Amino acid sequence: MILLGIESSCDDTSAALVEDGRRILAVKTLSQIDIHKVYGGVVPEIASRKHLETVSGLAEEAVREAGIRKSDIGAVAATNRPGLIGALLTGFSFAKGAAYSLGVPLAAVNHIAGHVAAAYLAFPELEPPFLALSVSGGNTLFIKAETYTRMCVLGSTRDDAAGEAFDKIARVMGIPYPGGAEIDRLAKAGREKYGVEEAERLFPLPRPWFEDAPLDTSFSGLKTAFINTFHHAEQTGEEFDPLLAAASFTEAVGDILISRVEWALSRDDSRKLVVGGGVAANSRLRERLLETAEKTGVKLYMPPLSFCGDNAAMIASQGYYELLAGRTAELSENAYASLEEAPGGF
Ligand code: KG4
Repeated sequence: MILLGIESSCDDTSAALVEDGRRILAVKTLSQIDIHKVYGGVVPEIASRKHLETVSGLAEEAVREAGIRKSDIGAVAATNRPGLIGALLTGFSFAKGAAYSLGVPLAAVNHIAGHVAAAYLAFPELEPPFLALSVSGGNTLFIKAETYTRMCVLGSTRDDAAGEAFDKIARVMGIPYPGGAEIDRLAKAGREKYGVEEAERLFPLPRPWFEDAPLDTSFSGLKTAFINTFHHAEQTGEEFDPLLAAASFTEAVGDILISRVEWALSRDDSRKLVVGGGVAANSRLRERLLETAEKTGVKLYMPPLSFCGDNAAMIASQGYYELLAGRTAELSENAYASLEEAPGGF
């Protein structure tokens, strides 16, 4: 079955056609980064308006590129949670209209489950159960996927998400939004200049750990410690080396995530780890995840960079499995900014 997938939860508008949840026929994504950059972050109303302008054109382009007829589309899937509510409503309403006019079923997809499903596109052999880490601009979640649709959240962030922390420290350093990829580049140069241990010693940062919930994360204290060091250097006229700062920050984020991955793997018998989300594009984190997989003998499913960021192909993939599990959405289905307010939670 060919699914039309729609993604509009933040600042990427995307439409994709995916066959049987695994084979991408076309994916068309339009990033709004250049529009939001000047404001230092995503402006929700502008994001919604841009989705509204572009979503139908992207869907048309995807159909053309896939070389199919609209009547070949067997179902429509769209993100309906979590994200910017206006942005979600735009894409989800378009998807409802498409499903209604084509006379096909609709699937309402959890964006985070979508990030996990990106691995189904990259690794045709992958099947649940597995452990997953979804790490993006809005979320940092450890998940146990028991089946394609039964997922259990093992831990999440208590404050900022990892990507958010990258973007905020980048902003303080004068790097335009979203700064994660640029911090990644600076950190690489920083590691070459100082080495990992020296970078950590010269620019010490905290690594919180919660004894009561080891898979919960917190990036707010780390971000504040970084910003305080930056401001202190500014006020006292000390030299602040962005390469050193980026390298130390990247190691701290890596330590926070890898320590939890190791803890979770030692208690999981699936022997499979899936990683998804924009921060999974971080080169140092990827390197460290590969090392962890090798050390623990766990099979790592880490999609290529093109599948890490927001895209509609991953939404179509998860949507396919939602429909297979009989979870067809009504046309009266709503969208939800947070998972807490969505009926059924995750
Ligand atoms: O998954 P995504 O595209 O959108 C959300 O669902 O949030 O993730 C975007 C986040 C941003 O915070 C961005 O700075 C971060 O992913 N990011 C990175 C890298 N590439 C993107 N963070 C660290 N290193 C990278 N290479």
